[in-house]
Amino acid sequence: MGSRHLSCLSTLLLLLGPASGQVLFQAFNWESWKWNASGGWYNLLMGKVDDLAAAGVTHVWLPPPSHSVSTQGYMPDRLYDLDGSNYGTAAELKSLIAAFHNKSVQAVADIVINHRCANYQDSRGIYCIFEGGTSDSRLDWGPHMICRDDTQYSDGTGNLDTGVDFAPAPDIDHLNDVVQRELTEWLLWLKSDLGFDAWRLDFVKGYSAEVAKVYIDGTAPSFAVAEIWNNMAYGSDGKPEYDQNPHRQELVDWVDKVGGTASPATVFDFTTKGILNAAVEGELWRLIDPQGKAPGVIGWWPAKAVTFVDNHDTGSTQAMWPFPSDKVMQGYAYILTHPGTPCIFYDHFFDWGFKDEIAALVAVRKRNGITPRSQLTILKYDSDAYVAEIDGKVVMKIGSRYDVSAVIPAGYQVVASGNDYAVWEKSASEEVAQA
Ligand SMILES: *[C@@H]1O[C@H](CO)[C@@H](O)[C@H](O)[C@H]1NC(C)=O
Ligand SMILES: *[C@@H]1O[C@H](CO)[C@@H](O)[C@H](O)[C@H]1NC(C)=O
Repeated sequence: MGSRHLSCLSTLLLLLGPASGQVLFQAFNWESWKWNASGGWYNLLMGKVDDLAAAGVTHVWLPPPSHSVSTQGYMPDRLYDLDGSNYGTAAELKSLIAAFHNKSVQAVADIVINHRCANYQDSRGIYCIFEGGTSDSRLDWGPHMICRDDTQYSDGTGNLDTGVDFAPAPDIDHLNDVVQRELTEWLLWLKSDLGFDAWRLDFVKGYSAEVAKVYIDGTAPSFAVAEIWNNMAYGSDGKPEYDQNPHRQELVDWVDKVGGTASPATVFDFTTKGILNAAVEGELWRLIDPQGKAPGVIGWWPAKAVTFVDNHDTGSTQAMWPFPSDKVMQGYAYILTHPGTPCIFYDHFFDWGFKDEIAALVAVRKRNGITPRSQLTILKYDSDAYVAEIDGKVVMKIGSRYDVSAVIPAGYQVVASGNDYAVWEKSASEEVAQA
């Protein structure tokens, strides 16, 4: 084989990239656990596999799979006990993942490992004895697996926490070799026995990027996305500062430390989320930075950014940082046409009646080959109108201004539209003319 063939192959791989065409879907909300009393959430999702695959979803993010002290799964204790989750049994989960695989949709597990709830008290009366959830001793830990600065639970023998403290539960000492080895084993088991392909890492602020790298490199997920949710800077008017560079810098720094381009790891683009929240309220000028790029992580490192409108914390019944509810489709018109990897939220798709509109935008994305690395050209950014062109193939507009025809390049036709948004594609005749 000549080197010419090899270089063609590597060019092809580079063009396709691991993340080309990915569309994520968060397949649960804060209330999904309540289906434990009526058939289980996994079984409910079984009836939605075809819809999600047909809509162009490539990855589904499922809720934390293990037994947990809190109903939603974010306070796990017996990590191997997948029958004890409120979402269904291990067998149901396995069937669900198989059904998604059958439609070429990958399964993303929600990995909660910063902290872990203990099952028994030690002689001090403190809950610090952990049970793994198997008949053998895997993940059966003691207080020496707890960070020594988590003084409420630790016995003072562990390492210092490498990240921020999570107050409600023991913070696990991820510098302990046994912890690293047994959690890596557990993740590999989620892959081999359940069929999970990828990770969504919960509360990654709680441990260092170096620790995250150990688990990601040691388990080779097809994809990983980290939740690093830091506060944005706000002005005295209660609105976000225009400049959110420090906010996105923290996210980009994490990606760098975890291995950058060589790693499958990405981050949720909380910077874009926060700016979009404010921008759609008549401040669309926020959607460009002084260099003419998008102001979130997608403006700096789009291949590593997972964009979203809301999730189970920011939206759903918790509504900690909700997207303006009457402008949600403007959010989707932005993330589904822009660089980065978009993540669709269950509620908007199935409960808010936006299934067809969202699917139409995903279809535009796929038809035009928009990828995380697509080229963004911002054509207009006034208070009431934001217009951008992607890859010279798609134009999108959000905002209350109706007539933006003056900035729409020639040869484009509207292919999707709704409440204060529109998307144009090059018309077929134009593509022939250019070919
Ligand atoms: C559902 O979960 C709640 C809270 O964990 C529990 O009390 C209840 O027994 C569960 N119901 C079923 C049918 O499993
Ligand atoms: C796989 O999909 C085909 C049709 O696409 C369907 O007939 C079959 O039942 C599916 N199998 C599983 C295990 O879901």
